[in-house]
Amino acid sequence: MKHLIPQFDLMRRRYPDEATSSLVLPCLHAIQRDRGFVADSDIAELTDYLGVPRIQIEEVLAHYTQFRRAPIGRWHLQTCRNLSCSMRGAEGLLGHLSEKLGIAPGQTTPDGRFTLSTVECLGSCGTAPVVMVNDTYHESMSPMRLDALIGELK
Ligand code: FES
Repeated sequence: MKHLIPQFDLMRRRYPDEATSSLVLPCLHAIQRDRGFVADSDIAELTDYLGVPRIQIEEVLAHYTQFRRAPIGRWHLQTCRNLSCSMRGAEGLLGHLSEKLGIAPGQTTPDGRFTLSTVECLGSCGTAPVVMVNDTYHESMSPMRLDALIGELK
């Protein structure tokens, strides 16, 4: 994480001294963009850098589901399981993905290509069911559309 300190310093200049704790979120985003997940050592170093209690960083990581605490596959498939998506077949999509990839939610395929997760509302209820692949939304999904999508992900 140390190589990110210049980037953190730039962000820090935009915040008043009394708002240092507000830097936790953007710093965690920068760490995850850099490594793909937030390691325990990152939390310790960020605690030292910002001078905030470790629990404050842990709470942010626990609250926002987009933060990852361990390496994941090249393609992160996140299936929304909230109300609108559930009513339009999200459970079936999740089961289809699980069966096709041979993994349960929270797992990564042995070849490291795919990680499957469930998430709460992705904010695109009007086009449910939604599956997010890395940073891209795939809306109005069906098992057939998922099969085509998986086939394109190398
Ligand atoms: S319930 Fe799935 S996007 Fe809102």
